[in-house]
Amino acid sequence: MCGIIGFTGLKQAAPILLEGLARMEYRGYDSAGVAVVSAGSPAQIRLEKVSGKVAGLYEKTENGAAFPGTCGIGHTRWATHGAPTDFNAHPHLSQSGLFAVAHNGIIENFVPLKKELLAKGYTFKSQTDTEVVAQLLEDNYNGDFQQTVEKVLSLIDGSYAFAILCREDPQTIFAVKKNSPLILGQGDGFNLFASDVTALVEHTRDVVYMEDGQYAKVTPDSIELFAEDGSPLPLAVTRVTLSVSAAEKGGYEHFMMKEIMEQPEAVERALTPRLKNNEIVLDGFSLTKEDLAHFHKIIITACGSAYYAGLAGKYAIEKLCGLPVDVQLASELRYSDIPIDDHCLLIAVSQSGETADTLAAVKECKAKGAKVLAIVNVVESAIAKQADHVLYTWAGPEVAVATTKGYTTQLAVLYLFAVYAAHVLGRLDDAAYAGLIGELRQLPEAVRSALKLDCEMEDLAPHFKDAEHVFFLGRNTDSALAMEGALKLKEISYIHAEAYAAGELKHGTIALIDKGTPVAAVCTNEALLEKSLSNVIEVWARGADVTAFVPAGLPGSEQVRDYAARIVEVPHLRGIFASIAAVVPLQLLAYHVAKLRGCSIDKPKNLAKSVTVE
Ligand code: AGP
Repeated sequence: MCGIIGFTGLKQAAPILLEGLARMEYRGYDSAGVAVVSAGSPAQIRLEKVSGKVAGLYEKTENGAAFPGTCGIGHTRWATHGAPTDFNAHPHLSQSGLFAVAHNGIIENFVPLKKELLAKGYTFKSQTDTEVVAQLLEDNYNGDFQQTVEKVLSLIDGSYAFAILCREDPQTIFAVKKNSPLILGQGDGFNLFASDVTALVEHTRDVVYMEDGQYAKVTPDSIELFAEDGSPLPLAVTRVTLSVSAAEKGGYEHFMMKEIMEQPEAVERALTPRLKNNEIVLDGFSLTKEDLAHFHKIIITACGSAYYAGLAGKYAIEKLCGLPVDVQLASELRYSDIPIDDHCLLIAVSQSGETADTLAAVKECKAKGAKVLAIVNVVESAIAKQADHVLYTWAGPEVAVATTKGYTTQLAVLYLFAVYAAHVLGRLDDAAYAGLIGELRQLPEAVRSALKLDCEMEDLAPHFKDAEHVFFLGRNTDSALAMEGALKLKEISYIHAEAYAAGELKHGTIALIDKGTPVAAVCTNEALLEKSLSNVIEVWARGADVTAFVPAGLPGSEQVRDYAARIVEVPHLRGIFASIAAVVPLQLLAYHVAKLRGCSIDKPKNLAKSVTVE
């Protein structure tokens, strides 16, 4: 997910572009750049780019003062193709500097297009798919900016939002939208557009939300909108009432709620590009049966929620692959004497890809011969660079310290890997493989349906608001869920919460259960429902105030009603992927309890988004 912006008008463009990029930095912040058509004749397109945050761009352009010109584009990047470096940063210039392009999305067919351009003698400065578009524009330029844009759009496949400058048309910008957001802003004596309304509301509240396939010709005194076939369209202007701060959070009160609500799309991004024609295709690597058979064990290592995602993923890998999976806290693994050699596959799970303990554990295990697969969200992060293979979770930037979409996309990728590996090992016949792929395809929708529990969790929150201690119980996959649910509640509401393998409670901790003790019983594992019920009865008999999370409509789950004060029905997912939807009500419950307690939800006390210290 990146942020792009374009401005053309009577004012200097650079300061406006920089401020808009700063407002969109939450969309991606590993590199940034601006391109401005300089005044004078012949006009030139001047470019400045930095790896790192927009602050570096302010510095390099002297807050925009060093970049005179009233027409320009800007970009803040969340890397997908190519490392987050300044040469990969956008905008990208065409060979002669005729065009500049900023892009949010992925060009699916950039490799063959690049080959054709290389054969024609074009040279490239970056690894990005976007630079191919800039060169294509130059290669197809016939003197008419709009016709050239239309021609290039007919050549490319993929998802994109473009901002395009042409040196020969110094006041005009083309904005193009397909599967990535782009919003036009109408001004007086100027017009602008951006990926997010956040970057517009300072200048205008009259906006036009572009639809897929549309493109717009933007000049200082007009915006002309066109359909994919080139036919002109009327401008459907909307008046934006959101404050800037609210717009940054997509209208939600906190980034955490925005990111909880983004989970269906995030899980979709994590899975769908890898489910091709009922085959699982990993990114840029594959493992043979010999590769996988060479591993005598798998160790999953991570910290915090990523560790709990690893615990939940363990069950799927063991069940499907028949390989023993040991899940180790990275801070423990790095100092342990667990035998590790080249027969060990280490799966390192990390949203940030920068967690010091996980990075250190990876280096330790690698030095002992382990092969490393990283499951991370941040492209080219330290852990990704250390790994032999990487599966990115594509969650997009996660701003709230308490992870939500980071966790569910980690789990989705672990499930994907489990099915892939089981198939490669020959443990799945074609029907079972296709069936599991079908179940993976259902996960985004299951997460979406779990989001409907938001109001119910808000109503439930008062029961936990003043608790001193909350116990989360669960068996097997539910115990991993219970741990994540307890951590969410602890880290944003500051209520002490403990998760227990439900069968373990009677070995001591049940001594703490008194009349009214709040217990969240996670009973979504269909196969163990009866056992989980017996644990609910144990705490109920001692007076606990039980809230049970059960699969909606599952036969036998109604018995829980006799012992639980409250029942939360979560989407009933058959098989081993159920946890990915069941975690959502736990996230929502923690959010609403923290809100009732007036806690700082996005930035809880004492916590950092990425723990890069030991
Ligand atoms: C989870 O809500 C916390 N923010 C924390 O436990 C986090 O999961 C942990 O620090 C690991 O971070 P990582 O995924 O970036 O490695």
